[in-house]
Amino acid sequence: MPAKKSASKKSAAKVRLVAKPANKRGPARTRDSSPVAGAPESATVAQLISFAAERFAHAELWFGHGTDNAVDEAAELVFFAAGLRHDEADEVYGQVLKATQRTKALALIERRIRERVPAAYLTHRMWFCGHEFYVDERVLVPRSPIAELIEARFRPWIDPTKVRRILDIGTGSGCIAIASALAFPKAKVDAADISTDALAVTRKNIERHSLKDRMRAVQSDVFDGVPDERYDVIVSNPPYVGDEELAGLPEEYRREPVLGLHGGRDGLDIVHRILDQAAAHLQPNGILIVEVGNSEDALVAALPRMPFMWLEFERGGGGVFLLTREQLVAKS
Ligand SMILES: C[S@@+](CC[C@H](N)C(=O)[O-])C[C@H]1O[C@@H](n2cnc3c(N)ncnc32)[C@H](O)[C@@H]1O
Repeated sequence: MPAKKSASKKSAAKVRLVAKPANKRGPARTRDSSPVAGAPESATVAQLISFAAERFAHAELWFGHGTDNAVDEAAELVFFAAGLRHDEADEVYGQVLKATQRTKALALIERRIRERVPAAYLTHRMWFCGHEFYVDERVLVPRSPIAELIEARFRPWIDPTKVRRILDIGTGSGCIAIASALAFPKAKVDAADISTDALAVTRKNIERHSLKDRMRAVQSDVFDGVPDERYDVIVSNPPYVGDEELAGLPEEYRREPVLGLHGGRDGLDIVHRILDQAAAHLQPNGILIVEVGNSEDALVAALPRMPFMWLEFERGGGGVFLLTREQLVAKS
């Protein structure tokens, strides 16, 4: 989601590039000419990335769906088109692209500019907690700062050795649920979403990560359809964008399912439902972790006595709170 979701440096970290920032405008173009006109004929990987980054900057694209700058976004498209791995970046920057690789990369770069589609919807891939996920326009592009909490196995907020059941509400691609299942090999994980379209993607990713034995993808309106279980951890990145913020979002966010973004007038419709019902689904000493992004202030204003613990992140992002079951019970 917007601003606070710029914590998507998981993949950016994989896309290291020391290319000269292209700060000169390319050849003059008319309004109708192709945005990739003037691409170098015989380009190395680094040169084509540099060219694309310059075009992206010129077109004033928005970054925030897995990368946070033009160079990383360009690198992901060029690497994808050329079938290169980001971990071999240093060795391949100087490689001259084959004609087929160049053509494929330019087609993606052109679509990124003309259609304002986040790169992940062009490549159908995104990394989260170091794992690769399939994505398409049925699900939000994974970028939640909750990744850092999963990597830390929710320490120090819970003893990881005691975690047996985890629930993810609003699972989308399944990134949070699946990364949690991979971080807790002994835990069973339920991935819930109201959207049948999103759940089709969740299931595809569960299968891809061979987690069918320990994971369930369940259709549920918040808690209404979740299994009758008590969870050690309930985690959620629900829709939390309010009316006003939604109206002002850059074009790239309009490619994402509105069901994944819009949380009602003040963004907090789903968040209040989670807060009202979570205690009944948590084990004693269980924890609830919810991302609310820019709606943090509105939530604090709405529930001034709720003892939210707002978590901090090394890679950026915020607006994520933690509450224990006992805190929720005390306030209900
Ligand atoms: C912000 S997206 C998060 C997706 C994923 N967890 C992530 O972090 O990338 C919110 C998700 O909540 C789902 N959702 C919206 N309303 C819901 C509801 N009432 N109950 C359950 N899920 C809901 C949407 O379909 C969407 O997949």
